[in-house]
Amino acid sequence: MSSTAFMVNGFDVANAHKVEPHMQELIARRAKALGPSYKLFYEHPVHFVRAEGVYLYDADGTPYLDVYNNVPSVGHCHPRVIEAVNKQMTTLNSHTRYLNERILDYADDLLSTFPAEMSNVMFTCTGSESVDLAMRIARFHTKGTGFIVTRNAYHGITASVAEISPTMGPYVPVGQHVQMVEAPDAYRTEPGVDVGEAFAKDVERAINDLERHGIRFAGMIVDTVFSTDGLLPHPAGFLKKAVDVVHQRGGLFIADEVQPGFARLGDSMWGFQRHGILPDMAVMGKPMGNGLPIAAVVAKPELLAEFGNKVRYFNTFGGNSVCIAAAQAVLDVIRDEKLMENSKRMGEYILNGLREATESHPGVGDVRGAGLYLAVEFVKDKKTKERDGEFALRLVNALRENRVLISATGLGGNSLKIRPPLPFTKANSDEFIDIFKKTLEQIS
Ligand SMILES: Cc1ncc(COP(=O)(O)O)c(C=O)c1O
Repeated sequence: MSSTAFMVNGFDVANAHKVEPHMQELIARRAKALGPSYKLFYEHPVHFVRAEGVYLYDADGTPYLDVYNNVPSVGHCHPRVIEAVNKQMTTLNSHTRYLNERILDYADDLLSTFPAEMSNVMFTCTGSESVDLAMRIARFHTKGTGFIVTRNAYHGITASVAEISPTMGPYVPVGQHVQMVEAPDAYRTEPGVDVGEAFAKDVERAINDLERHGIRFAGMIVDTVFSTDGLLPHPAGFLKKAVDVVHQRGGLFIADEVQPGFARLGDSMWGFQRHGILPDMAVMGKPMGNGLPIAAVVAKPELLAEFGNKVRYFNTFGGNSVCIAAAQAVLDVIRDEKLMENSKRMGEYILNGLREATESHPGVGDVRGAGLYLAVEFVKDKKTKERDGEFALRLVNALRENRVLISATGLGGNSLKIRPPLPFTKANSDEFIDIFKKTLEQIS
């Protein structure tokens, strides 16, 4: 079987002989030391040795424009994050079993970005751990086990989270206590049908199905921008009806903010806020420490009251002093550099540029986005909307040869995943649009 199985834009090690000798050597060393689980991006992998701002540099010093990486979200190697981490590392790096103000200052600061009802935070190291913890809290609170997720969702890698991540492919079974619903896809919804209403109906159907199988409903978790379902941000507000159904039926709603969170979508700090809903919990990670492993669950305190008292929970590295310092610097930079505003402005600029660049292209079905998270969806036929993942992948690989980093997403991998760091400037956007246009012409 191909080593890229079930991964969009994965490098097939069977093609290692086609790449430069120094890459072949590194690929062989990876296979020897790391085994087969680690996948590289692209038909022609990239070898980076340093990064700064919105560029990564290869071993020859050639810059690549980063239009993909959402972890170094305030920019690669941001000096304020580096300084905060260095300072903390030389002062104290400890855990949550001693008193210290910094974690409390950060907790207060983070919670001030949430609705008042969501006033407790628990720290972990990864998004997966946060989703895992949120699932445990939901199960403890509702006494149910059943979860609802979207058909191509990804929420992480622990055993229980993998069971709610259908995008991982047929060798990672979806749990028997898990029901999948169709993602709310405005582009593929019949005209005249309300996206939110259709989604809410499917959620209701899924809860009924769980109950018919004797499974008590615990909750629904969705990535509030539906990244792996193809990036589905519109129309803002479509989640409201489904969340109401979840609550009416006694479940909890968990907003997965790992992708949309920390100002990426431009008009709000968190993806759920665009939908005018109040989650019971939100999970976040990736951009939280700009590369340092810090993640969290923000919850209504009534959910943690009993769980926190009865269930022993200690996470050795979760909330350690150095990661907290990085996370504080990230929040400060988002505010001081007005990155949410930049995300909105540059997002609109890039969206317009992409629409202009693709308007006469017969394979572009839809161009959409919210802030600095955008997608161009390729189809074989605009009427049937049959997904064209092959073309999207060719474009991703051709852009890599032209030194622009993006990837693809969605069922069929037919939507370009465009997700630059938040300090992307107008000059960066023009550079991207210009190369995008030329590359699209080259391969069409
Ligand atoms: C929506 C979403 N949730 C959860 C996760 C898991 O986060 P991590 O890789 O930090 O465990 C990811 C990672 O890609 C994600 O995209």
